[in-house]
Amino acid sequence: MTYTAEEMLEAARSVAEHAYAPYSGFRVGAVVVGDDGNLHHGVNVENAAYPSGVCAEASAISAAITAGVRKIEAVAVACIDATRADQSYPCGQCRQRLYEFRVDTVIVAGADGEPRVHSFDELLPFGFRLD
Ligand code: THU
Repeated sequence: MTYTAEEMLEAARSVAEHAYAPYSGFRVGAVVVGDDGNLHHGVNVENAAYPSGVCAEASAISAAITAGVRKIEAVAVACIDATRADQSYPCGQCRQRLYEFRVDTVIVAGADGEPRVHSFDELLPFGFRLD
């Protein structure tokens, strides 16, 4: 199964409705396509002890790995509460998390709300891995 950038961004927007973000009010959804060809979903899950919250990308990675995925082909991230459509680029820590699983492609919304497709190297050149 392959997914278009539009389909992935729409899936990220859709799952963002399930985000638990009472503190930031910033609901984020992420979907990854794994080496199993499937979409795996995640949302940000905040906590009253703020640093205990997790990002949507981390949730999606966990779901994919739990399903047996070991390589992630692509990720799409969307925030349905951002004041600008282009505010949903993965944070630095999530770029490192994604690097671990050799993500090729990152899809986010541009300022016009349409998908922007980046190679992962644009977001994190010279990342860190132990192999
Ligand atoms: N957030 C994500 O889910 N992904 C990112 O890449 C950036 C930030 C979440 C964390 C927190 O719940 C909220 O957005 C505001 O920072």
